[in-house]
Order: sequence, then structure tokens, then C-alpha cells
Amino acid sequence: MADARPILFFDSGVGGLSVLAPTRKLLPQAPVVYAADNGGFPYGIKTEAEIAARVPALLGRLAERYDPRLIVVACNTASTIALGAVRSALDLPVVGTVPAIKPAAASSRTRVIGVLGTDATVRQPYVDDLSTRFADDCLVLRHGSADLVELAEAKLRGEVSDPAAFTSVLAGLFAQPGGDRIDTIVLACTHFPLVSAELAAACPRPVEFVDGGPGIARRVAYLTEGQDWPNAPVPGMALFTATPGPAAGLGATLSRHGLSKVDFL
Ligand code: DGL
Repeated sequence: MADARPILFFDSGVGGLSVLAPTRKLLPQAPVVYAADNGGFPYGIKTEAEIAARVPALLGRLAERYDPRLIVVACNTASTIALGAVRSALDLPVVGTVPAIKPAAASSRTRVIGVLGTDATVRQPYVDDLSTRFADDCLVLRHGSADLVELAEAKLRGEVSDPAAFTSVLAGLFAQPGGDRIDTIVLACTHFPLVSAELAAACPRPVEFVDGGPGIARRVAYLTEGQDWPNAPVPGMALFTATPGPAAGLGATLSRHGLSKVDFL
């Protein structure tokens, strides 16, 4: 029996597309709704209380509207602050996105890793906990950047930014004591893999970038294993919490990700 219920991806903006893309590769037949809370963007400079109040309520409304089979909170800021509250509010599987410190620590040779996230994410106890559990023998340097989120949004609107802007974001990690030994950087905001080429070009030396997208895709495939899907491909839906959405220059990006329908909350 065909099951048309979608997988719902959620982020403040376009960042969650870095999680949607690897998931669609594994599950091309999955109907998807990509929800961007552009009305609340950016999350990274909000308080914990604001995120904790906004995200579970919004996901509750979206779950009612789209009846998803599974929700992916494709945002590190929302996940590190509100994942517990979202899971207790909703009676369906919820996959979160948290900084990929575990794989970074597993592959670092110098034992110095950088965590690049939003200001809100890098100050979370969740990150302390991941560092203690998985990177106890590493020096974990953190840097929060709201600018990099804007640079990623700009790129997906088709704008080209000054490479110096990426250099100055990275200086927030490399200029810290011990920063000259960083060999692995966790992209702990879903916007950042979207600009990994620009970051790599701006690095003073080659480093490995690690993000959670591919691991989340595998987790979603595992959780939906054996489920039924529509027999024919279903056009993906992009949902914005405020106008303008695609009108602001995202049309090409959305269609590249198979999101040919647009809705507003
Ligand atoms: N993409 C989000 C994250 O993973 C947040 C970006 C923002 O709105 O500041 O943290």
C-alpha cells in the first residue's frame, strides 16, 4: 500500500538542505516537506528561552498540517536546545542534528578539533557533554559565527561573497591558543556544509570538515526501513513561515533540491 506521508525537515533557513540532500540520495522515493522558519531566522543569536518556546510549538503546527511519518530537526541550534521538548510534545520519530564531535575526534590526528557553530550552539551544555564523552583527550576549540550563516544564505540566493569574509570567520578558530594544530573542523551548523568549498579555500592549511548530514541520512533510512512509499515520485514542498521565500532569490536552489511546490504558514 502506497504511503504518501512525507519526511518533514525543519531549519531556520536553507541550512537543512545540507541534511535533505544526502537523505534524498538514500531515499529518492520519499515525499519531503522542507520547512524553513524564515520568520524566526536567524536562530543562532536568539536566547535559549526563545528557541525553546518557538521550535516545539511550530513543529506541532507543522505536524498537524502535513502528517509526517518522521521529523528531522535539521538545525543544530534547535536540536541542542529543544530536541527533548520536541520529542515529548510529538508522538512520532524525531531525528535531531547535533555537532559531529564523535566522528571528528575519531579521525583527528593532532587531537585538536574546531567546532564551528552558531553562538547559541557553541555555548550549549550539550556540546560540553559531547566533548567529554567523545573527545576527552582532545583540545576542543569552539567558535560561533552569525556571519557564516548569512554567507551561506547569500550563496544559495546566488550571491558571491568576498573570500576574506570566510578567512575572518575561520580566524575565530585558528587564532585561539592551540588553533595552529587544528586538523579537523566540525561544521556544527547545517548552513556551514553549504559553504564548505569556500571554507576549504580560506583555510591556512588543509583540514578535514565533518558534518552530521550523511549520518542523519543513514539514520532516517534505518528508521523508515520496510515502510511503503508512493509508487511515483512526489514533488517536494518548501514551506516558509514568512514571505518572501523563493521570491527572495531561492527559486533555483529549491528546484535543484526537488522542492517544486511552495507553501506558507
Ligand atoms: N542552521 C542552523 C543550525 O544548524 C541555524 C542557523 C541560524 O538560524 O542561526 O544551527
